[in-house]
Parts: sequence; C-alpha cells; structure tokens
Amino acid sequence: MNDFVGISDLDMAVIIGARGGIGEAFVESIIQTTSTTKIIATSRNEEWCQAPCTGRVHRQSLDVTDEQSISALAEHLKAQSQNPKLIVNCTGILHRHDARPERTWREFDLDWMRAVFDVNALGTGLLVKHLIPLMPRTGRAIFVTLSARVGSIADNRLGGWYSYRASKAAQNMIMKTASIESRYRRPELILASLHPGTVDTDLSAPFTARVQPDKLFTPAFSCERLSEVMRSLTPADSGEFFAWDGSTIQW
Ligand SMILES: NC(=O)c1ccc[n+]([C@@H]2O[C@H](COP(=O)([O-])OP(=O)(O)OC[C@H]3O[C@@H](n4cnc5c(N)ncnc54)[C@H](OP(=O)(O)O)[C@@H]3O)[C@@H](O)[C@H]2O)c1
Repeated sequence: MNDFVGISDLDMAVIIGARGGIGEAFVESIIQTTSTTKIIATSRNEEWCQAPCTGRVHRQSLDVTDEQSISALAEHLKAQSQNPKLIVNCTGILHRHDARPERTWREFDLDWMRAVFDVNALGTGLLVKHLIPLMPRTGRAIFVTLSARVGSIADNRLGGWYSYRASKAAQNMIMKTASIESRYRRPELILASLHPGTVDTDLSAPFTARVQPDKLFTPAFSCERLSEVMRSLTPADSGEFFAWDGSTIQW
C-alpha cells in the first residue's frame, strides 16, 4: 500500500522523536505499509542514532531544544534537495526522574516549567521554522504534532498538570498560527495537532494504573488510528485539533 495518510507518492517521511513509544510505531508502520524510500528518524540518543537499522531508515540526532540540531537536519535535507511531504513530531515530556506534573500551584518550579515549555511548545515552534519551508509548495503534504487532550482549555475539568497542559495549549496555538501563515505559500499543506489517546509508553507509565485496559492503547493501535485521521484530513482542516478517533477537540 502506498497511500499512507493519503499521500500516494510518499518518497520520504520525517519522524521527530522516533525512539519514543508512538514515534517508533510510526516508523514501523511506514516501513510495513509503504514503499517510502527514506524515513528520517530522530532522537537525542547518540547510541540509538549510531545503531544499525534497516536501509530505508536514516537515524539522525536531534534535540528540539537545540535550534542548531534542527537547522542541521534542515541543511542536510536541503543539500539532498529533499522536500518531505510528511513530518510527524512525536516528541514530548510530562515527567522526568526528578519532576512530576504539578498537582497544585504550590509545586510550581520555574526550571521544570521552562523545561516542559521548551520541549512541548517552543520545540514545536523551531520545527515549524526550519522544516515547513522545506515542504513542497504544491501537492498533498502533512505536518502534524502530537498534542494532548489535556491541552484543551475548554476540556479542563480536573485541573492539575499545569505545565504540561499550558505547554500543549501553547503548542496548539503555534500550530494554528503556522497554519494561517502557510496558507498563502502552501495552500495544500495540512497542519494539525493530534491527541493520540492514552497510550502505553514511558510518558504515560506513571499515570496509567487506574486506566481501564480497553482505554489504554498500544502505540501501534494509536498510530494506526492517527494515520487514519491524517488520511481523512483536507486543507480545510488545517490548524485544527483532532483526537485519535477523528473527532475535533475544542481549544
Ligand atoms: N502516551 C500517552 O498516553 C500520550 C497521551 C497524550 C499525548 N501524548 C503525546 O504524544 C507524544 C509522544 O509521546 P509518547 O507517549 O510516545 O512518549 P515517549 O515514549 O516518552 O516519547 C517521547 C519522546 O520525546 C522525545 N524527546 C523528549 N525531549 C526531547 C527533546 N528535547 N528533543 C527531542 N526529543 C525529545 C524523547 O526522545 P529521545 O529521548 O529519543 O530523544 C522521547 O522518546 C508526546 O507529545 C506526548 O505528549 C502521549
């Protein structure tokens, strides 16, 4: 099958955060279901980047908080005259060995809040800045970023998780604004924020004890659903926020 996400001639794809649970599932799915000749898969982990892998996958070191590493990827693609039709940003942080999402404002910690914003919101901005200009001016092309339903201000009923929620809301705003800017030069480009559901990965692991088994998706299932959502998107949907089942999430 060659029409992964509705792009029939998908010669290359870029998966940012490809060592993570959902990112890895995207790479695997593209390998399994398409004849895409080149998949750029990024991580900060040098050892992973150097490890041997299938010939179609090219691993590249990239840290979304390091603008130079993003511009290095852009330069690499430019040097090879490559114009990716599909870019999926699967990076994100919710917790760290020394930090968990805040339950109350009493737990605010500026360093942690900045770290979460750097990756989830500002990192997405830098990817937009350096990678969208490389995407084709005509024809179907998709740039999506994995967001989270908890970034919806309208949907916030439980409170808590201040930095993660706020960073995802900011990420969504960056995507929405970029979709407006890109309309003129790239009218067929689709930008979207996608909620993958609750997925069994390192990111969610500390918080899934009480999730019903049928509500905890495997990365492969989430990726399959998100690919289906992407397949259905048209330029009129650009800038919107969708869940894994295709429903629109309110801002
Ligand atoms: N899992 C869920 O239930 C769930 C729910 C809602 C939304 N999401 C969103 O889905 C996305 C993917 O999450 P996941 O569940 O696949 O989590 P994951 O397995 O923890 O993967 C996240 C990846 O982000 C990368 N990353 C973190 N900081 C980075 C940085 N500074 N630069 C580059 N990459 C960085 C890490 O890659 P390296 O360490 O290899 O660099 C990590 O593998 C995230 O945006 C998350 O917010 C997940």
